[in-house]
Amino acid sequence: MADFHVFEDTAAVTEAAARLFADLSHQALYERGRFTVALSGGSTPVPLFQRLTFSPWCSAIPWNRTLFFWGDDRAVGPEHEYSNYRMARVTLLDHVPVAEENVIRIRGELGAVEAAKAYKADLAEAFGPCGAPRFDLVIQGVGMDGHTASLFPGGPELEATSWVVPVSNASADPAVDRVTLSLPVFNRARTALFLATGTGKAPVVRDVVNDPAAMDRYPAARVEAEQTLWYVDENAFSLAKKG
Ligand code: 6PG
Repeated sequence: MADFHVFEDTAAVTEAAARLFADLSHQALYERGRFTVALSGGSTPVPLFQRLTFSPWCSAIPWNRTLFFWGDDRAVGPEHEYSNYRMARVTLLDHVPVAEENVIRIRGELGAVEAAKAYKADLAEAFGPCGAPRFDLVIQGVGMDGHTASLFPGGPELEATSWVVPVSNASADPAVDRVTLSLPVFNRARTALFLATGTGKAPVVRDVVNDPAAMDRYPAARVEAEQTLWYVDENAFSLAKKG
């Protein structure tokens, strides 16, 4: 069951998400000796990624024991403007002491099919080959159509049972091939954190909050990790309040 937390504005969402990131990193380090996190693309997590590079969070996070992965990426090279890896690198990874071997990116330059295979192998190496990876934290975005990561409404990828899926969706924005983790992997995570800010997200947030049938339409509503949190600002929650 998703747990909604409403904050005044983007800055408050960002601060709360940074605190959660730090808290989960400490818990994971204590319990398992490392913190595994899958990042999302899009513009919404940018303030969080940037915030993590400043005090107090920069010095509060065990960067050398944090392993970075991605929930999805576009089938482009690491320097491409569409690359989710690149976005995370310039906003976060370039500014904190993360070891290169702990940044496990989706190699989009191989093309979606080969990149999916390579990512699956990388995940098996990091998490072991038996049983789907269990991330400590997956950061999720939501599109106005209810997509999350590169799981789009009505897409065949939604029913995938493999860990990683190549995606070809001409109506995606940008319209490039992608690679995404599958629902079973997102649902195995210890924590899924959705970030949604701004009035553009208000209709989808309203439906996820109020309409049990939203699960049929919105892939984002089908993510049920051990703990599923939605951190939203008042703008994104503005229609949910009215029911
Ligand atoms: C991607 C993202 C995608 C994103 C949503 C929300 O690679 O495109 O992972 O799922 O999170 O489209 O994007 P915004 O944050 O830009 O609204």
